[in-house]
Amino acid sequence: MTTQSTSPLLSERERTKRDPRSDTGFYDTPRFVTHADDGFLSQLTDTYSSVLSADDRIFDAMGSWVSHLPDDISYGHVIGHGLNAAELEENEALDEWFCQNLNQNQVLPLEDNSVDAVTCALSVQYLQYPGRVFDEFARVLDDDDGVLVVSFTNRMFPTKAVRAWRAGSMDERHDLVDRYCKAGGFASTRQISCRPEADPFRATVARNWTKSNGNDISVVNQNNILYLEQCDNLIFTFIRHSESVWIIITNITAFCIYLPDRNFLTLL
Ligand SMILES: C[S@@+](CC[C@H](N)C(=O)[O-])C[C@H]1O[C@@H](n2cnc3c(N)ncnc32)[C@H](O)[C@@H]1O
Repeated sequence: MTTQSTSPLLSERERTKRDPRSDTGFYDTPRFVTHADDGFLSQLTDTYSSVLSADDRIFDAMGSWVSHLPDDISYGHVIGHGLNAAELEENEALDEWFCQNLNQNQVLPLEDNSVDAVTCALSVQYLQYPGRVFDEFARVLDDDDGVLVVSFTNRMFPTKAVRAWRAGSMDERHDLVDRYCKAGGFASTRQISCRPEADPFRATVARNWTKSNGNDISVVNQNNILYLEQCDNLIFTFIRHSESVWIIITNITAFCIYLPDRNFLTLL
């Protein structure tokens, strides 16, 4: 997978935290708690069920004592990462784990193309250098079929979340996550938003851009279709994909043309 970040995604001001001390000290004491309500966590497990495959090699970034993976599926190999060794030691889903402060060192000790999925639950708000971290997610993910799942809610440790996150609405935070994905060379293929009445569930499922940009209609799903129009033997499907509105024109031979340019709408 190629990576595309050339400039920082967050300005110096946007990446500041109220507590500027090292995150390592903040996470020194283990917290054997969950960071969202049960409804959120079961929605997250369902999302993993629908996206991950048995035998997948998974990297659970910014984790703790639970990974929220479905416990009836046996994954190939699960690597955990976080800041507290005692929490990671307790995590029964993990085959191995390591501690690393991603705000000090973003380079992951993992080989290129070595995992099929990266999960990052309830933690993305703490990243001060998300561009470099998402580049690393892209690097370690399998070129052909790698998937990234980033989830979040409205809870956080406010002294440790970056200013850009604290200042944003839930929609703006979701846009921020999608910008991080895009900068890492991913295409957001599914944005999930539900349970606004409780701990809101938000997630972005993202894949290698080049894969999604080819003849792969998995970018089309019930969440991003804006509308469909039929004219003679052509079907025009308008979808929201990444930050653009795309038109897929399908003829009776099912030939697809992707037009990733909002301005094209005016040319039709
Ligand atoms: C709210 S917890 C979420 C843990 C876990 N993903 C879950 O769903 O329960 C936030 C996690 O982010 C990780 N984290 C926070 N700041 C970090 C940093 N600078 N570098 C690496 N990990 C960090 C910590 O390991 C912490 O467990």
